[in-house]
Amino acid sequence: MSRTSIVKVLKSESSPGKIQVKGWVRTKRDSKAFSFIELNDGSCLANLQIVADATLDGYEESIVYLTTGASIAVTGNVVESQGKGQRWEMQATAVEVLGMAEEDFPLQKKGHSMEFLRSIAHLRPRSNLFGAVFRVRSRMAFAIHQFFQDQGFVYVHTPIITASDCEGAGEMFRVVTMDGDEIKMGDEEFFGKPSYLTVSGQLEGETFACALSDIYTFGPTFRAENSHTSRHASEFWMIEPEMAFCDLDRDMDTAEAMVKYLVCDVLESCSEDLAFFGKFVDKGLIERLEFVRDRPFERVSYTEAVEILIASGQEFVYPVEYGHNLQSEHERYLTETHFKSPITVYNYPADIKPFYMRKNDDGKTVAAMDVLVPGIGEIVGGSQREERLDVLQANLEEHDLSKEEYDWYVDLRRFGTVPHAGFGLGFERLLMFVTGVHNIRDVIPFPRTPGSADF
Ligand code: 4AD
Ligand code: MG
Repeated sequence: MSRTSIVKVLKSESSPGKIQVKGWVRTKRDSKAFSFIELNDGSCLANLQIVADATLDGYEESIVYLTTGASIAVTGNVVESQGKGQRWEMQATAVEVLGMAEEDFPLQKKGHSMEFLRSIAHLRPRSNLFGAVFRVRSRMAFAIHQFFQDQGFVYVHTPIITASDCEGAGEMFRVVTMDGDEIKMGDEEFFGKPSYLTVSGQLEGETFACALSDIYTFGPTFRAENSHTSRHASEFWMIEPEMAFCDLDRDMDTAEAMVKYLVCDVLESCSEDLAFFGKFVDKGLIERLEFVRDRPFERVSYTEAVEILIASGQEFVYPVEYGHNLQSEHERYLTETHFKSPITVYNYPADIKPFYMRKNDDGKTVAAMDVLVPGIGEIVGGSQREERLDVLQANLEEHDLSKEEYDWYVDLRRFGTVPHAGFGLGFERLLMFVTGVHNIRDVIPFPRTPGSADF
């Protein structure tokens, strides 16, 4: 008999009859004549209640000894539940023990702290919270592809190993080969020149947009920033659409539409898991997501944003000054306290932005934009790209970047250049936003952060 998933059983309109389920014991309660087993297989948050009669084969030998964490296969009949809270339960006709769990199984019924669960990353997907987080993660990845594919965007795999630092921040991991303990450098470099793990697929993405018009990338990204915050990881996933024949307005429209689409999708597709987050992680979650779904995003220029921050009279750790980057506390004040909604900030000072962003006519600002959401701050960063050959060449010089390194990128401006724009959505920041989970480590299967690459 083939396995039926528990989500399928619990969602059945009528009894599926005699079937087999497999999973891990969450709890077991014994009475004289039978045991109640709560079984979970990760297909949904809810458990299936199994009634195992004391007359079953193997009851005295093994079933009574089952403890939390053990794995079993159960054959039986799905019947209307007599208990409260669930529609269906299973009357077992056979229980096969696949693997007993030792007594020190670390996930017991009491709630555990996120920090503790992180230290057992190999077992935490079996907890209610992490099961829910990683089902939502899977659904959001699917919805991202659907959002772009429905509009005809082409999915491009940009390289993970690269020789260029797109963001110009120098926060890169170097790729080297080894001979014993010795690192091969210089003339012995594997690729003939220094190479790194990508910080962004954007530059490569631009080459494809300048051929296929609308493209997106979705893959792992690496940053060696020594930031010990709850919003930075050394390895994270980024979605980077790039659109030819596109200006900053359409770029902002697309980013906002994408965030809204994903919020709608999670509300519709993951309601059971969201209800769990709303109860145990973040009481205001559902209300906030519905608000974002139903209301337009506010738009404000960087200059206006700085004026609002200065006029607020608020004491910030980092003082607000025109020409400086907005700090996370500034971003959160704007979105949480001032606008009380997601906002898109655009036209940043050129001096604080990378070489590839398009210079505005004022000569001081670039056509950049960030989408900020309550609880997190920046979730999207993007821009219109500099498509004018002479301006781009001047930018490279201003940023002290080597012309030779970027000649392939500059070529796009020599052969049929077009206005184009794109952005990067941090996948984990999105997941924090839609689950209410406060620490980026807790939406990543195996988080990598400074000083920590366990499992
Ligand atoms: O703003 P960023 O650095 O933009 C870029 O990389 C552009 N090349 C994107 C583009 O225009 N194609 O990063 C984009 C997003 C941020 O808004 C944030 O959500 C996320 O990536 N991000 C991080 N997420 C987790 N950990 C980190 N260390 C992150 N750094 C950026
Ligand atoms: Mg940014």
